Amino acid sequence: MLTITQKWKPEDPLVVGVSADENQSILIEKIKDAAGLHTADYLKSGLIQPPPGRVENVIVPYENQMVRVLCIGLGSRQMMTKTDRRNLWGQAFQQIEAQGVERCSLLLETLIPDGQQYKEWTALLAETIGLSTYKQENYKTGSDEVKRLKSLSIFSAQFDQAAMETAVAEGMAYAEGANTARKLVHLPSNILTASELAAQSLKMAERFGFDAQILEKEDMENLGMGALLAVNQGSVEPPKLIVLKYQGLEEWEDVTALVGKGITYDTGGYSIKPKTGMPGMKGDMGGAAAVLGAMETIGRIKPEKNVMAVIPSTDNMISGGAFKPDDVITSMSGQTIEVLNTDAEGRLALGDAVTYARSEGADRVIDVATLTGGVVTALGSWMTGAMTNDESFYKQIEKAGQETGEGIWLLPYNDDYKAQVRKSSIADLNNSPTRKAHAIMGGAFVGAFAEGVPWVHLDIAGTSVAESGHALGPEGPTGVMARTLAYYVNH
Ligand code: BES
Ligand code: MN
Ligand code: ZN
Repeated sequence: MLTITQKWKPEDPLVVGVSADENQSILIEKIKDAAGLHTADYLKSGLIQPPPGRVENVIVPYENQMVRVLCIGLGSRQMMTKTDRRNLWGQAFQQIEAQGVERCSLLLETLIPDGQQYKEWTALLAETIGLSTYKQENYKTGSDEVKRLKSLSIFSAQFDQAAMETAVAEGMAYAEGANTARKLVHLPSNILTASELAAQSLKMAERFGFDAQILEKEDMENLGMGALLAVNQGSVEPPKLIVLKYQGLEEWEDVTALVGKGITYDTGGYSIKPKTGMPGMKGDMGGAAAVLGAMETIGRIKPEKNVMAVIPSTDNMISGGAFKPDDVITSMSGQTIEVLNTDAEGRLALGDAVTYARSEGADRVIDVATLTGGVVTALGSWMTGAMTNDESFYKQIEKAGQETGEGIWLLPYNDDYKAQVRKSSIADLNNSPTRKAHAIMGGAFVGAFAEGVPWVHLDIAGTSVAESGHALGPEGPTGVMARTLAYYVNH
């Protein structure tokens, strides 16, 4: 859909950026040079200055036909941040699509800042187009044909075609990573069971040549994963521990583990959720989706890094065999856990997954999870909450989030908080100390399994699903952290 072409074809609408900080005759010359559209002078009279992010159409004669020029208002072409640019471009491409444009051709140098960094900007442009024009599939019967932007080509008179192609592939790798995560989160849990998530992971592994292993219930029993198994106890669906390894270095060393909460449905178990709290819990595998999304990007980019994805997956259900508050279980780490709340299930699954990742040689661990309602109260849907036991490791993840435009905010983690998850008269840990600071309690519980290894916890309960459409996508799953994790690994 997104290609690089040598030149503009007059049957394609021409997309140009119109910036406020540039003489319009320069723009006209660029259009003449690159597109051969010598009647571009017509634009002078008609040339409009759309407000930033807005798209306006101009019709210009060319040989024996009329061509459509789509002018994107840029505000300042030079001065904007990456995030501003994503938002502005995203809005613009959504409008172009809404106008029913099915194919168009974009003159690169009118859209990006001047200078040497055209590869970076081209990658950002491709990523933005891929994210902003993403559509969620649905199960509605009957046809509701919407016109989609099917083909967009980028051309330039100044820049190297091969380098542009590489940049587009890189940008698309990030967009496709996030979109992979979005699709997974959107799937209802009667379709996306743990088995189906494992099957899709295996397909991805085959596509990219990842080493893949699915641990079955019996393997979990042999490894003593009593915490993950407890969450699965009430289910008729077998649990899966999905493990993908990408080796980009000679040796299996310096390994980053990405651990994603893969609860395909969270009823709360016997600590059952109220009927208003349950809808949406098909998305409780958003952490797993982010990890798989990141693996999609990593598989395409193939960095010289070692990465392991570990996804504990099950639903959290009720039956005569389900686990209960007051149960005491033994985790793979050997630490015993007093279950106080079966709705604090994610941390149980993650605890065993973190222990497993370490046993497979993880040198650092990032866990991603739709873990707590508390983080939604604290940060809303605008930032992902984080915790860490290693400031300098955290700084790298925070930086990655700044680059991808996915905000991350660090919550405190000190001995007082650590002590809370260890308060139990009967076991080493308890899974739900108090409603107070419960976003931190959730993270601190996972932290008890990451002691001794650099660890960052990302709670995406507030950021994983958008309540309304936005510049980078529709209402619904955002794919948050897929790009940030991939960016961290790739740099
Ligand atoms: N999956 C939920 C957290 C969640 C809430 C995700 C809202 C997305 C939106 C998690 O398993 C959960 O139930 N957490 C409890 C923890 C409590 C029992 C300590 C919560 O947040 O209330
Ligand atoms: Mn829960
Ligand atoms: Zn949950």
